[in-house]
Amino acid sequence: MTTRDFLGKENYNISSETVSESCPSNIALIKYWGKYKDQIPANPSISYTLNHCKTNTTIEFLANEVFSVQTFLSGNEEVKFAEKIEKYFKNIEQYLPWILKGKYIIKTENTFPHSSGIASSASGFGAIAKCMMKLDETFSGKDSDEVSLQKASFLARLGSGSACRSLYSGLVVWGESDEVEGSSDLFAVKYSDDEIHSVFKDFNDWVLLIHEGVKSVSSTVGHGLMNTNPYAERRFQEARENFVPMKEILKSGDMKAFIKLVEHEALTLHAMMMMSDPAFILMKKGTLEVINKIWDFRRETELPLFFTLDAGANVHLLFPNDGSEEKIKTFIENELLQHTQKNGVVKDVMSF
Ligand code: PMV
Repeated sequence: MTTRDFLGKENYNISSETVSESCPSNIALIKYWGKYKDQIPANPSISYTLNHCKTNTTIEFLANEVFSVQTFLSGNEEVKFAEKIEKYFKNIEQYLPWILKGKYIIKTENTFPHSSGIASSASGFGAIAKCMMKLDETFSGKDSDEVSLQKASFLARLGSGSACRSLYSGLVVWGESDEVEGSSDLFAVKYSDDEIHSVFKDFNDWVLLIHEGVKSVSSTVGHGLMNTNPYAERRFQEARENFVPMKEILKSGDMKAFIKLVEHEALTLHAMMMMSDPAFILMKKGTLEVINKIWDFRRETELPLFFTLDAGANVHLLFPNDGSEEKIKTFIENELLQHTQKNGVVKDVMSF
């Protein structure tokens, strides 16, 4: 597929409609950090889609009114978000030619705490893209479910790169990789469930809310700083190469190798931030304390508790339901929760 394949249909018939959609968040195992023009990722990434952390969105489209966007987050009007969506809609007009021919009232709610620092842009743009595809199908006719989902992923990517992975459940790849058939820089694809060992299909992600609130450097700025980072090319290459062991690990169920690779990816992401100019650090004291406690715990018990990080201070605690989870959960409650700001933890599982 090329960008041209996603261009909108010339014939459409608009009417006032209200549509609702829901989309989960995701957490990357091999990270996307660095991009080119038009949200083309500098390297492929793979993520788990979550189950409970979701954004629910309702869009009211008032046909033939002057184009404008009004947004509400949990009932409160959000002017800054509306400006962002207005820009986004103008940017995707070539793919949805009717998009500027009306007024929008967008109501959105997250199932996770707003201030938690859990990325809401992935689930948020995922839900908006799904709503827009629903409107598009009403106005221009329906495509097959597969094409429609792919276009939703394509549109979500143009809102927030990682959002394009949230359209699919299970493990999801975005960015061209020789290791994943059909993978693309333009949209995400589902990683075949048949290629995943059962131990990776029943997995927990407990997010420790180390620092609630707005982070000091946004993802947009962070991606941009990769343009001048002297280690960027090596990093992009490494992420590409990491798909080779990742594919083998997912197939064989090699938990030890999985843990090593996933933690390495998380630390590399943050190392890139520290090697940017200007440098920045998103981890907090609690992040490091938790990481060290996890390593001690693993050394002592050999139980499969490990971590990943996104672009923030929170720690995603990953562990399988393989019989060891009760001991791990007790350890988290007794030893790790104390490093959060307000005993904050969001308990999620991977969606399979
Ligand atoms: O989609 P963005 O621009 O918010 O970037 C997200 C980047 C990471 O969360 C740090 C990694 C990833 O692959 O999701």
